[in-house]
Amino acid sequence: MNTEKNIVLTGFMGTGKSTVAEIVARQLNRPLVDMDLEIEARSGFSIPQIFRRQGEAAFREMERQLVHELALRHGLVIATGGGALVDGDNREMMSQHGIVICLNASKADIRGRLAENQHRPLAADWEARFEARRGAYAGIRHQIMTTGRSPMDLAADVLALAEGALYVRTPDGGGYPILIGSGLLSRIAADPESAGLAGQVVVVTNETVAPLYGEALAAALPNAKLIIVRDGEPHKNLDTVRAIYDDMVRLGADRRTTVLALGGGVIGDMAGYVAATYMRGIPLVQIPTTLLSMVDSSVGGKVGVDLPQGKNLIGAFKQPRRVLIDTDVLTTLPELQWRCGMAEVIKHGLIAQPALLEPSLWQPEEASCLLRQAVQVKIDIVEIDPYENGIRAHLNLGHTFGHAIEKSTNYAVPHGEAVAIGAMKAALLSRNLGFIDDNLVGQIQKILWQIGLPTDIALDPYRWYAAMSTDKKWQSGTSRLVVLKGLGEAAVVEGLPREDIMAVL
Ligand SMILES: NC(=O)c1ccc[n+]([C@@H]2O[C@H](COP(=O)([O-])OP(=O)(O)OC[C@H]3O[C@@H](n4cnc5c(N)ncnc54)[C@H](O)[C@@H]3O)[C@@H](O)[C@H]2O)c1
Repeated sequence: MNTEKNIVLTGFMGTGKSTVAEIVARQLNRPLVDMDLEIEARSGFSIPQIFRRQGEAAFREMERQLVHELALRHGLVIATGGGALVDGDNREMMSQHGIVICLNASKADIRGRLAENQHRPLAADWEARFEARRGAYAGIRHQIMTTGRSPMDLAADVLALAEGALYVRTPDGGGYPILIGSGLLSRIAADPESAGLAGQVVVVTNETVAPLYGEALAAALPNAKLIIVRDGEPHKNLDTVRAIYDDMVRLGADRRTTVLALGGGVIGDMAGYVAATYMRGIPLVQIPTTLLSMVDSSVGGKVGVDLPQGKNLIGAFKQPRRVLIDTDVLTTLPELQWRCGMAEVIKHGLIAQPALLEPSLWQPEEASCLLRQAVQVKIDIVEIDPYENGIRAHLNLGHTFGHAIEKSTNYAVPHGEAVAIGAMKAALLSRNLGFIDDNLVGQIQKILWQIGLPTDIALDPYRWYAAMSTDKKWQSGTSRLVVLKGLGEAAVVEGLPREDIMAVL
């Protein structure tokens, strides 16, 4: 018996539901039901005829009956009529055995699309209906903004969601999937169309990742060019960005070109910044290849580069179209980079998801499971606070202590190790403030040691404190630190007396 979930595409008229559903059904070799066509076939009348002869209420009843019938079947690709899932019961029914995805478009886009197609019975008063239906559609978890995107590209998102991708909702009313799994790069190479990468693509990577994965990927994509930059944080700057712009112009990249960022956080941030600014913004797909970039930098839309005066001083918010995480690339990751990524995973565990602190989840064969849980922590935070005005600060647990270590040692201590020490200091501070007990502090220390991460450093406390107080997170000279209120619960404390902080340094 077929037990696969139905894939249900809904949304306002003119958002491309039927076209995208057709592509998805073809790609998955699944039966397609276009509800409006089905109702026409069964009744023997066109939709305008049904509206004229029997009225809208009769049509809605036919729709309701069809929803109830289809919702009980499996393995279908369904394009609903524009109003079918405005009804709460219909939405509920479809969600029981299906993944419901709402396609969105801007008003201007819908106006243009409806002008091309006059036979829709409700097209005349569409603006009033658009407003009336907005609330019902907004309640659907998976939203995809269709404006300016090709049906094939949209179908790639739907295919990813149907496969169980995680999903991040973005402030523009859309969102993007994060696909996590083994063998993803080989699958993209074998079928670039399903991954939405058959069009013009510029793969931006570095000299380390290019021979490992970049060259093969660019060769496998039908319209891809490769841009290789130098490896390392010292090259995450405007000179490298300028060099990438030059290459893009030379290669003929235009507004339809997708930037594919293949590498760690340095490449993701820098190529993302290029995508945010080249021709006022072009599509971005992130393929993170370090543990840190998988669980942290590729999700949430922060992109940017360093200035000589400080890290990440130039930047933008640029949401990717898609994040594709192939767990296999972790096999070539140097041990140090794995440990540094684990520092961020543990941080996610401490602030929101204690399951991540369980050593059995750190085994290579559990990579997908670990990543799904760690990435979900970041998703939950950036959905609430996309522009970093509030709760996103919790992701900085240990970072103010850590950045100061990096600065004071002239970056001799790697970021992840500095964050681990910082997390330990934050735990000690939380205990001193009476939020957590000695037992939990001991547990955190043991976890960090098990991974091979340090929990302290011989650094002059006065120098350390001075470096912390220049952190950009400290506002107008007032300390601002993330502490633990318990396991899986973080909070920001401001204006702590200097002695309290010095006591843990
Ligand atoms: N945008 C954000 O929200 C955000 C969040 C956290 C960190 N960051 C940024 O991320 C950067 C750090 O990222 P990172 O830790 O990934 O460092 P990185 O990008 O420098 O990668 C670390 C090293 O691993 C190599 N590498 C990458 N993938 C590999 C693979 N699969 N096999 C072998 N080697 C591989 C890289 O070439 C590099 O030498 C910093 O610039 C930081 O500011 C950004």
